[in-house]
Amino acid sequence: MCGIIGFTGNINAKDVLLQGLKALEYRGYDSAGISYFTENGIRTIKAVGKVSGLADKVASASSDTAKCGIGHTRWATHGGVSETNCHPHRFGKVTLIHNGIIENYKELQDELAKEGKEPVSQTDSEIAAMVIDSCYKNNPVRAIKKAVKKLHGAYAFCIMFEDHPGSIYAIRNGSPLVATATKEGAIIASDMVALIKYSKDYFVLPEHHIAHLTAKSINITDLDQNEIEPDMLHVNWDMAAARKGGYEYFMLKEIHEQPESLHNTISPRIKDGLPDFSADNIPDSLFTDINRIVITACGTAMHAGLIGKNMIERFSRIPVTVDIASEFRYQNPILDSSTLVITISQSGETADTLAALRLAKENGAKTLSIVNVKGSSIARESDYVLYTHAGPEIAVASTKAYTVQLAAVYLVSFRFALAKGTLTEDETRKLAATLLEMPSFVENMLSCDKAIEPISNKLKKTKSLFFIGRGLDYALSCEGSIKLKEVSYIHSEAYAAGELKHGTISLITDNVPVIALATQENVFAKMISNIREVRSRGAKVIMVAGTGAQVDASLCDHLITLPPVNDLFAPFGAAIVLQYIAYYTATARGLNVDQPRNLAKSVTVE
Ligand code: G6P
Repeated sequence: MCGIIGFTGNINAKDVLLQGLKALEYRGYDSAGISYFTENGIRTIKAVGKVSGLADKVASASSDTAKCGIGHTRWATHGGVSETNCHPHRFGKVTLIHNGIIENYKELQDELAKEGKEPVSQTDSEIAAMVIDSCYKNNPVRAIKKAVKKLHGAYAFCIMFEDHPGSIYAIRNGSPLVATATKEGAIIASDMVALIKYSKDYFVLPEHHIAHLTAKSINITDLDQNEIEPDMLHVNWDMAAARKGGYEYFMLKEIHEQPESLHNTISPRIKDGLPDFSADNIPDSLFTDINRIVITACGTAMHAGLIGKNMIERFSRIPVTVDIASEFRYQNPILDSSTLVITISQSGETADTLAALRLAKENGAKTLSIVNVKGSSIARESDYVLYTHAGPEIAVASTKAYTVQLAAVYLVSFRFALAKGTLTEDETRKLAATLLEMPSFVENMLSCDKAIEPISNKLKKTKSLFFIGRGLDYALSCEGSIKLKEVSYIHSEAYAAGELKHGTISLITDNVPVIALATQENVFAKMISNIREVRSRGAKVIMVAGTGAQVDASLCDHLITLPPVNDLFAPFGAAIVLQYIAYYTATARGLNVDQPRNLAKSVTVE
């Protein structure tokens, strides 16, 4: 969602803020603004649109220098896109930026109105600024402590007080904030990509703690004013990983990074030829002491969960359900100490997934999370974490984070079955060996772009299309469909191929494209029948088939054949095909694939 940055130190704060906002722009980007201390008080500059527009405005507004300031990129929730609604918000002596949602802002606004105080924007964030200001009597920490008791909802705030130049105060509940003190100064942001230029070491601001940033240090206190030392974390990627490195879009760069991400995720977990989670501190008892599994996640991560269900049930014969986190939370789910809840999340901050995890814990379930961002809320709150090692994923459309999530669920399914005895050591070794080949298999797949680009060129004018598949291919169809919608804005639907005839086939008419995934030998003949059904109604079929599949030339308009691979591992290859279809169709339509409209990378609101 929104991106937040604060800096106070001995270098030009405006540059730090604008560069940080540029790096954070992928989180949400309908408007942006900065505030900084000047000799004559706090100055705020805002602009609707991209950070580059804000940078131009800042450059032409004044040549003043600044050493301390805060900046924000906004993804509108309360109030439309306008300069007034853009952050930072100021009221009285308080200037702040906010990520999250203040749920009781209406009630607070009504109370403030009784004192004759009216906001100028339609945002919940300005109300938070008003509440903090009304609690402020020259002591920032006391004001923040008092104010947060009144604010209900998720928040990460960076706050400057007019009469405390050089200081930034921060607090969070739910929404992420990471910080680091460097020789250039102290810096805080909603994610590591804004900090990496200055340090690879950082800490996550603990919830309900107040950080006080000055040029020399960061002081953290709990709400009883006890000072605490934060746990330091380290990232093993650098600035280059967060830059496009010659690719036109991050999405394409990240598609190409998949062999490396897969290698980094898989190889440390295969010891003596067997899946091994001892370095992750995940005991086998986690798998042997349960009798059912619930996988819960959102978006692409949920689609990785669908594949996980298939693999875990196949090898361990233990029932697995997959629930969308925002549904799971409100269904009074059946959970107990014999249930393992697996949450999957790239960011580790998705609000619904985090809430689902908390619900699982409250109900005594065991929890394991598969997360990409180190130290994120979901990772910290789960009993056990299996980190994926995709490095930073900047494009909104998830690509490398998805395939490493697949790798993680495959590893879990193998280790699970080995621990339960439903797979022998020999069988597990063979599967683990094939998984280890996935980085080179995917590397090989990357050259299929030449075959896909011309197909995408034909798809670019399409209004609506369908993805069909069975079993693992159906789970992949769901991912192929969301990927295409996200970046190309073409309507698409994923359908279990056998279900199509129960209604949706009425939408298949002349020239409607159908992307048919047929990589699974056990249902191949059934898929052929389904393809014939749509073809005979005029569909243009793009077929993705496994190696060795005997495909009659008249069956499809375009055929993409995967290189030789065990069917169970075909999703790693088919995923690349689907990512390319989305990417090239969107670019053929002239769209900015990294910043699709209305979408945010990390959805920290419900
Ligand atoms: C957003 C992103 C999706 C992502 C989903 C879940 O909607 O745009 O790409 O799959 O959130 O995010 P998570 O960080 O929990 O994997």
